[in-house]
Amino acid sequence: MSRTRTLFVTTALPYANGPFHIGHIMEYIQADIWVRFQRMRGNTVHFVCADDAHGAAIMIAAEAAKKSPQDFVAEIAAGRAPYFRGFHIAFDNWHSTDSPENVALSQDIYMKLKAAGFIATKTIEQFYDPVKGMFLPDRYIKGACPKCGAKDQYGDSCEACGAVYAPTDLKNPYSTLTGATPVLRTSEHFFFRLSDARCIKFLQEWTRGRNGQGQPRLQPEVLNKAREWLAEDEGAGGKGLADWDISRDAPYLGIPIPGTTDKYFYVWLDAPVGYLASLKNYFDSGKAKTASGAPQTFAEFLADPNTEQIHFIGKDIIYFHTLFWPAMLHFAGYKVPDNINVHGFINVSGEKMSKSRGTGISPLKYLELGMNPEWLRYYIAAKLNANVEDIDLNPDDFIARVNSDLIGKYVNIASRCASFITKRYDGKLGDHDPAAAKLEHDSAFAHDEIGRLYEEREFGKAIRRIMELADAANQYVDACKPWELAKDPAGETRLHCVCTSALTLFRDLTIYLAPILPHVAERVENFLNVSLAHWNDVSINLAAGHQIANYQHLMTRIETRQVDALLGIESEPSAGPKAAVATPSPASAAKAAAIPAPNASSPSPAAQVKSDASVTDRYISIDDFARIDLRVAKIVNAEQVDGAAKLVKLTLDVGEIENGQPRLRTVFAGIKAHYKPEDLIGRMTPMVANLAPRKTKFGLSEGMVLAASFPDDQGGVFLLQPDSGAQPGMKVK
Ligand code: 2FM
Ligand code: ZN
Repeated sequence: MSRTRTLFVTTALPYANGPFHIGHIMEYIQADIWVRFQRMRGNTVHFVCADDAHGAAIMIAAEAAKKSPQDFVAEIAAGRAPYFRGFHIAFDNWHSTDSPENVALSQDIYMKLKAAGFIATKTIEQFYDPVKGMFLPDRYIKGACPKCGAKDQYGDSCEACGAVYAPTDLKNPYSTLTGATPVLRTSEHFFFRLSDARCIKFLQEWTRGRNGQGQPRLQPEVLNKAREWLAEDEGAGGKGLADWDISRDAPYLGIPIPGTTDKYFYVWLDAPVGYLASLKNYFDSGKAKTASGAPQTFAEFLADPNTEQIHFIGKDIIYFHTLFWPAMLHFAGYKVPDNINVHGFINVSGEKMSKSRGTGISPLKYLELGMNPEWLRYYIAAKLNANVEDIDLNPDDFIARVNSDLIGKYVNIASRCASFITKRYDGKLGDHDPAAAKLEHDSAFAHDEIGRLYEEREFGKAIRRIMELADAANQYVDACKPWELAKDPAGETRLHCVCTSALTLFRDLTIYLAPILPHVAERVENFLNVSLAHWNDVSINLAAGHQIANYQHLMTRIETRQVDALLGIESEPSAGPKAAVATPSPASAAKAAAIPAPNASSPSPAAQVKSDASVTDRYISIDDFARIDLRVAKIVNAEQVDGAAKLVKLTLDVGEIENGQPRLRTVFAGIKAHYKPEDLIGRMTPMVANLAPRKTKFGLSEGMVLAASFPDDQGGVFLLQPDSGAQPGMKVK
């Protein structure tokens, strides 16, 4: 098959109520690798996503933060870019479900479903929180799952067994907003008639169908799950699909349902439509480049039979994407998805990921620590396959894998051969070594197999195959010993050939790794002075006389202390310079066991700490400084403290989210003589966010704001203020 493909690729839209966690980053990396591979094959890809900006959770979180939902979402959205830049995630467009495109598309889909007889209204009894005075959104009711009995499950779906149900089906329900037992009240709701025989028939065909490439559109385990839900298998005991409640009563943050005054689409109706809204926004911006170069509208693109629509999602949202979404699209006359690619969760050291908070690893901290994003891209890729399996990020395995594969195998080939070419042959390649002909052939020949593995999202297998090639290349270099050839004038010609062949093998490896390591590939492209942008570039002959540039080191090793810092493990004694014995961290413990006993040329860890200690009498280390978590805080409230002579009570937003809601901090600051509380409200200021909370007689103080003054406050006290543009939660460094 040589025809180039046109792909519309998405990742699941994240709720705009908090920063990204490692689970989001894993999904974006998975999709980004696949997209980069497709582009290297010459395919046209539009890779888009958006913030999922509707729903009760965001409405309630914004209310708690005393912000309009729009301001609240805008602040979250403004914090997205550093993650994309940092981890080389190249979305073509990032939009929002709270957008005119999404309103128009969602309402259009709804009207078409209605016209086709798929919308029914029913008066239903719904839980109402008598304390809060509102109908309770599904996520704010908890109870035991009606199917499997798991406790504390949300009102719409069970995280234990995947069942989807109505909140009224829960056993022993309670309101998570007030703890009250909800009462039932009636209200008219709108339903998408999934139980319609036309829907069942369509979904039975669609779920078992194939994509434009003739491959199944669902992974086997996803298909099984969908068939179970469709109650297709005899003995499954299901009753088929229930109609889906797509409306919510005011007050609700969502898209108004046409023809009503107080009803909104349930967030899960307009969220996937956000995929199309982002694509439309991208096409309307004129930035979307078509395969032919001829202009194409959003409508033309979707109507084009060559367009393939591919969604990457996590295993928790299969139901929405394999049943509701294709049925909505199909019966509204829109294009249906070609593939739903489902991945499992990412755990860290076996710790399960929480949907709202992720795991203990903060992607932003990873970047702030200066850790190389391509280490993480590589490790995640090495763990991923095409199944719906959870993957585990194990710190020791992470260090070992990256250092062994990327530094010890891949980079090692270039670093051992490049300088001979630049120093001895004026940077010009020579003839290829005839003894390496089979190796070079095998390397180029692996191109199809590795390509197939990328295509199938078998990234772990692709990496194993690439590392086999790297092993073979290293064995070749080891056997030829260029450093020995360099000592022997008779070895001059062979040295040139060996290094030329080794660098050709290195070039192939770089192409194979380019979807995972795009930044390294770019640097190798400059170093080897050759295109590596296309999958078929492995067939370009690096001929004798080809000029290369000076080799610059491509990647450093991961240090255990970096991973320790990421995990919040102290690598150095915390009791000050006198404490000479460091406790090994879990990440370093395994390594420590393998380190030979200390000898004269290798000071013991304790001795190293001692010599560091003499330095810390005068200076602090960068690690000491890094232990102070300085953050930008917004003063959302300031008030006098009754009975306190010096204190002002500050309420601070440090960009923290807890249980989907902003967590505000209280700090008592001794600035009463210098500031009127009302003048402080709305100001930004740096704060020490990790100062141990301190009990005062006026309440708990959870941090410290920073102010400038001379001793005894001579000349006044001046609260520090970041430059305009700083946002709550930004790190001061
Ligand atoms: O589960 C979630 O995080 C949802 N915000 C995913 C939405 S994906 C798509 F449907 F928009
Ligand atoms: Zn269950």
